[in-house]
Amino acid sequence: MVRVRTAILISGTGSNMEALIRAAQSPDYPAEICLVISNKPDAKGLVTATKLGIPALCIDHNPYADRESFERDIHAVLIDHDIELVALAGFMRVLTTDFVAAWAGRMINIHPSLLPKYKGLHTHQRALDAGDTEHGATVHWVVPELDSGTIIAQRAFPIHANDTQASLRDRLRPIEHGLYIDALASAARHVAASLRPGNPDS
Ligand code: GRF
Repeated sequence: MVRVRTAILISGTGSNMEALIRAAQSPDYPAEICLVISNKPDAKGLVTATKLGIPALCIDHNPYADRESFERDIHAVLIDHDIELVALAGFMRVLTTDFVAAWAGRMINIHPSLLPKYKGLHTHQRALDAGDTEHGATVHWVVPELDSGTIIAQRAFPIHANDTQASLRDRLRPIEHGLYIDALASAARHVAASLRPGNPDS
């Protein structure tokens, strides 16, 4: 099986990143995690990735004059590492239309809500405020409009009467990990089929 060369972009803890790296340690998993990039130098995920043997580097957005030049450098590093698929996992920078277009059909994101509900921030609180009876996470293809691309997979769980923003966040996290592992596998199969049509080993 030819595995799809995948990069994970993070900004913080990287618990989803860690789940994906561990899943991809299995040779049967269709994505190979080849690179982790953080836009924050102190992201805990950089340390975790390095410990797990994955090349991990920081491209700090702060010194850049604009989004375009920051993204040009990210793009160059991705190309340099022959990356075929990008998985955003808690990457807290909005991406420009040009960058998204360059990775159209080859970039996915995990969002902590049952999209199309609660695009953007503070999703747990918004679910509580709305009196929802369930909450969850979604993995979707990235398009220029925030949190709006075609849904790859979604997983829900019940909200209890005594739930808080913190309890929802804590219960959601392990659900996200399983969801993202399955969704990245499905996205990688899709990318392999489009990049290597007719290759039975893809
Ligand atoms: C997750 O809740 C994810 O849905 C959101 O950012 C958070 C990242 O958490 N996009 P972690 O860094 O993977 O622990």
